[in-house]
Amino acid sequence: MNGVTGRMGYRQHLVRSILPLRDDGLLLEDGTRIDVEPILIGRNADKIAALAAQHGVTEWTTDAASVIADPTIDVYFDAQVTSRRVEALTSAIKAGKHVYTEKPTAETLTEAIELARMAENAGVVAGVVHDKLYLPGLVKLRRLVDEGFFGRILSMRGEFGYWVFEGDGQPAQRPSWNYRSEDGGGITVDMFCHWNYVMESLLGPVQAVTARAVTHIPTRWDEDRRPYSATADDAAYGIFEIDGGIVAQINSSWAVRVYRDELVEFQIDGTHGSAVAGLRRCVAQQRAHTPKPVWNPDLPVTEPFRDQWLEVPANADLDNGFKLQWEEFLRDAVAGRPHRFGLLSAARGVQLAELGLQSSAQGRRLEVPEIVL
Ligand SMILES: NC(=O)c1ccc[n+]([C@@H]2O[C@H](COP(=O)([O-])OP(=O)(O)OC[C@H]3O[C@@H](n4cnc5c(N)ncnc54)[C@H](O)[C@@H]3O)[C@@H](O)[C@H]2O)c1
Repeated sequence: MNGVTGRMGYRQHLVRSILPLRDDGLLLEDGTRIDVEPILIGRNADKIAALAAQHGVTEWTTDAASVIADPTIDVYFDAQVTSRRVEALTSAIKAGKHVYTEKPTAETLTEAIELARMAENAGVVAGVVHDKLYLPGLVKLRRLVDEGFFGRILSMRGEFGYWVFEGDGQPAQRPSWNYRSEDGGGITVDMFCHWNYVMESLLGPVQAVTARAVTHIPTRWDEDRRPYSATADDAAYGIFEIDGGIVAQINSSWAVRVYRDELVEFQIDGTHGSAVAGLRRCVAQQRAHTPKPVWNPDLPVTEPFRDQWLEVPANADLDNGFKLQWEEFLRDAVAGRPHRFGLLSAARGVQLAELGLQSSAQGRRLEVPEIVL
């Protein structure tokens, strides 16, 4: 596991996913249990040794190449900063390891496709984190789609974001590289790969994109409280066209204040019903329950709009999404079968981010060509 000192690598992948799996074992479909034993990789020996000691992990190293060359290791996982990903994944795939990775898999589409090709030719099992699909809110939304609740789906609206402090007064709650494009930062690169698989899974493949990416806050302060120029976009306003005339519009911003129930929310509207899902909750309104508002700015609002929606139940215990996908990926790796979210799906995410940035720079709508390996 490389990058476990980072936000995602530590909290979601090590602490919430792999440590419980190390303690409980991985349960296979046939009832057998497989041992999962992590080896932690980091750049700083003191940090990684302390982390390993804290969690009772016996093996750690600063030498990624030696672990990758070790034939007893089955899976290489990467949650490093994005700019280090391609090189690391390439050497792991070349060494015949199964690979599981954070998104985005690469900073350019060419590299993302090359990685997907390489994994396919090497015959390794490859997976990319598609965590949003495992969130309780989106699981419920997906169920409504599967059950035909919406009738004909017309549109989706997504709001993602929160205020990320500049770092001069209060420290920023995200790493500074996120705001430097030369270090792989930028909200379009970060979020469009998520939005691509969310739209693909709920609505269908994205056919065209029109986006505007901007840097609202040009100066921020880094981890050492030094000012730096924010060269990457901190907000992206996107319109996505999907099969069947569906239009999705998603705002992503680190320069917005939250007046919502959750940090991300998606609303799907269809001829027979609508639903709004966040990370955990999902509420829905059927055609027969739809009120008939009449526009009249002279009168105060009398309809309690938020009360007119019904909670969609989970009907199951939904575990941490990162852990659920880890389990699925590891079962696939043990069985030697493809993981459903592989590096081609990852490449489509990188493609949407790249086209989003291009659309913004050129001020025009761009079609999304199909990627063939
Ligand atoms: N799935 C998600 O929802 C999600 C959310 C946030 C981030 N991510 C992805 O996870 C990856 C890590 O993001 P993060 O927010 O955890 O970042 P982070 O800065 O907190 O962690 C980065 C990790 O990479 C290591 N690293 C290696 N080389 C580095 C270098 N040259 N400079 C700085 N750090 C270096 C760090 O030691 C650390 O372990 C990114 O690729 C990001 O896109 C995914």
